[in-house]
Amino acid sequence: MNILAIESSCDETAAAVVRDGRQVLSNCVSSQIEMHTIYGGVVPEIASRKHVEAVSGLAQQAVEHAGLTTADLDALAVTYAPGLIGAVLVGVNFAKGAAMALDLPLIPVHHVRGHIAANYITHPDLEPPFVCLCVSGGTTAIVDVQDYTHMAVLGGTRDDAAGECFDKVARVLGIGYPGGGPMDRLADGGDDSKYELPRAHVSGHELDMSFSGLKTASLNLIHNAQQKGEALDLPSFAASFGRAVSESLVPRTIHAARMLGYGKVAVAGGVAANRRIRSDLEAACRSEGFRLYLPELRYCGDNGAMIGCQGYYEFLAGHTAGADLNAYATRDIALG
Ligand code: KG4
Repeated sequence: MNILAIESSCDETAAAVVRDGRQVLSNCVSSQIEMHTIYGGVVPEIASRKHVEAVSGLAQQAVEHAGLTTADLDALAVTYAPGLIGAVLVGVNFAKGAAMALDLPLIPVHHVRGHIAANYITHPDLEPPFVCLCVSGGTTAIVDVQDYTHMAVLGGTRDDAAGECFDKVARVLGIGYPGGGPMDRLADGGDDSKYELPRAHVSGHELDMSFSGLKTASLNLIHNAQQKGEALDLPSFAASFGRAVSESLVPRTIHAARMLGYGKVAVAGGVAANRRIRSDLEAACRSEGFRLYLPELRYCGDNGAMIGCQGYYEFLAGHTAGADLNAYATRDIALG
């Protein structure tokens, strides 16, 4: 079954063709990062306009790169939630029009379910159930993946997402947007215990997290140093920051995996590219005897292949939509 998948939830327009859920025939991504870098963050109106310009050509390119024609397609999958609403709407409306014109089924896909499915592409042997740490610019959640289309959030951030926290701190340091990658690289050779940064606990909810205190403490530390004319040891600051984020995420993920007893842990989303988090998870899973699944770096950030992969399993579960499909800025992963 060949699925043409469309993703436009934030600052990347993406289209891919995926066969039978796990074989990526093409994966085309058009990034808007250069445009948003000028403003230090995503400007929603610009993002929507750029998606409108890119989506049709990119979908055509994905079909061509797959060595197919539209006659070889069996369905269209599209991210319909969550995301910047104007941006998501562009993909949804394009997919609705294309599905109608080509007389193909339309499959709505939850963006975070797509991030989780990126692991199926990298690991052909991976099957639910497993625990997945989902960490991106908009999401920080520990998910119980009971089956391909049955999931429950076990815990998550009460405020900022981990990726958002990386981005805000990097912006104040002036090291680029999005800031996760530059912060990760800056930490090379740094002393991760030089700066004391907070790790928050949400009382009574052991799997919930909070990153706003870490963000504020980091920004205060940077501003205080600037005001006093003191130079920060940047690699050590970035290493201390990365450690604080990792020490919020990793022990909770391991705790959830222990509670559920699946023996399998996966990671998903843009922040899953972070080397500190990956190596802390590797060490923790090794000592617990859990198998760890990490997505390839090219499937960590937003892409169409992950939507085509999850779309296949949604289709098998009978989850298709009609021309009345709507887009949503927020939506529980459990609802699909
Ligand atoms: O999954 P993604 O591409 O988009 C969303 O669905 O949000 O994630 C983007 C986020 C950004 O916040 C970016 O700074 C972060 O992923 N990110 C990283 C790294 N690479 C990207 N964060 C930490 N370390 C990285 N190496």
